[in-house]
Amino acid sequence: MDKLEIIGKPPGMPGTGLVGTLPIRGAKNAALPIQCAALLASDLTRLRHVPKLTDVSTMNRLLREVGCAVEVIADTDGRTVEIDPRGVAQGSLEAPYEMVKTMRASVTVMGPLLARYGRARVSLPGGCAIGARPIDQHLKGLQALGAKVTLEHGYVDLEAKRLTGGRFLFDKVTVGGTQNVMMAATLAKGHTTLENVAREPEVEELALFLNKMGAQISGAGTPTIEIDGVDELRGIDHAILPDRIEAGTFAVAAAISRGDVLLEHAPVDHMHAIIDTLVAAGAECRVEAGGLRVIGPERLRPFDVVTRPHPGFPTDMQAQIMVLAAMADGASVIRETIFENRFMHVPELNRLGANIVVNGNTAVVRGPTKFSGTTVMATDLRASASLVLAGLVAEGTTEVRRVYHIDRGYEAIEARLCPLGAQMSRYHGGGA
Ligand code: EPU
Repeated sequence: MDKLEIIGKPPGMPGTGLVGTLPIRGAKNAALPIQCAALLASDLTRLRHVPKLTDVSTMNRLLREVGCAVEVIADTDGRTVEIDPRGVAQGSLEAPYEMVKTMRASVTVMGPLLARYGRARVSLPGGCAIGARPIDQHLKGLQALGAKVTLEHGYVDLEAKRLTGGRFLFDKVTVGGTQNVMMAATLAKGHTTLENVAREPEVEELALFLNKMGAQISGAGTPTIEIDGVDELRGIDHAILPDRIEAGTFAVAAAISRGDVLLEHAPVDHMHAIIDTLVAAGAECRVEAGGLRVIGPERLRPFDVVTRPHPGFPTDMQAQIMVLAAMADGASVIRETIFENRFMHVPELNRLGANIVVNGNTAVVRGPTKFSGTTVMATDLRASASLVLAGLVAEGTTEVRRVYHIDRGYEAIEARLCPLGAQMSRYHGGGA
């Protein structure tokens, strides 16, 4: 298994001072549902600015398994991925356990397969490192459109000759559930109203993509989405929007290292809660023509954060912002309301010298921390990002193990941060 070695700041030095320009890559959580949406088309879709991530490759593998021809063309600015679904009618229409357990977002093929091909078979995901994460809302929503749902042997089988439009109120705000049911409704007969939907930018981006394909969706980005079903969607050419979480992660890197980094193409309109928190902590955030410039202060101030569905503070930034809180002079309170088990990074950050106490869904972070390098274990994607951030400002050397977690959502993170002055190397193989 690969590991990352990070040489932090020399003892007694104030900071590592990351400096330079960092172009933000395409968003993982926009790319994945859009890859699935290509299944709805009658011909080829071309996606540009697709980030080079293992989750994206896993989704490509799943699409091939259900019968798509998928071509990946490497280029300088992310990748281009061409997805041709014309072989799917003869395919398995199945997301098997091996795929779903590797990547939960595999369940997002369910809505498109059902809507376009009349059936889908998807392994139930079960829990994961950050919580139970059921898919009951996806299934209830698809049932509201007329799908027959059978649960057997750990799989869910869905069937519908043609879905029919309907009204569905989500009991819980869910990004994947909203995306799955919205995609299914695009090819349903008649009108669908979805209420209490997720308002994340990646939902809006998917609606934009589907409308370019010929769908009739309005209201994405608000709590209610209206969809008029159409008979056919066509393949299109589309560029994936920049990743607000990648931008947020590197913004924290700039802030804690007393750096000065221009995050090129950062989607600032989608980052208000993140930027507000950085500013509350004392970082300077300047929106410039090329993106977002973040300048780290000499002293960071404590702040409080509660994770919420968009436009609230994103749970996908909770682990990273905890490192910012740990560097601040005083006590910060961070409350996680989206996932029930998303504090796995806390014991590892404490091993690096942080003083974080968790009580239920609340973490109290007392700073300022003098992080000191040691060997730590990544447990999930965003947890591993927080360990890399702490390693950047730690005294001495930090070794982050199980970096396959970070490769799911950050494209060769060492190659991105080293040009800014970070000292990081990847070692292949070695222990767990
Ligand atoms: N939930 C249910 N029932 C459902 C669906 C969700 O109870 O049917 C619960 C979940 O257990 C969770 C909450 O609702 O407590 C929110 O889950 P959601 O469905 O919104 O999450 P997701 O669609 O599975 C996406 C992102 C996650 C991100 C969450 C929340 C993708 C591929 N994944 O997951 O990203 O944390 O939304 O914003 O878009 C990451 O990138 O690190 C990541 C985990």
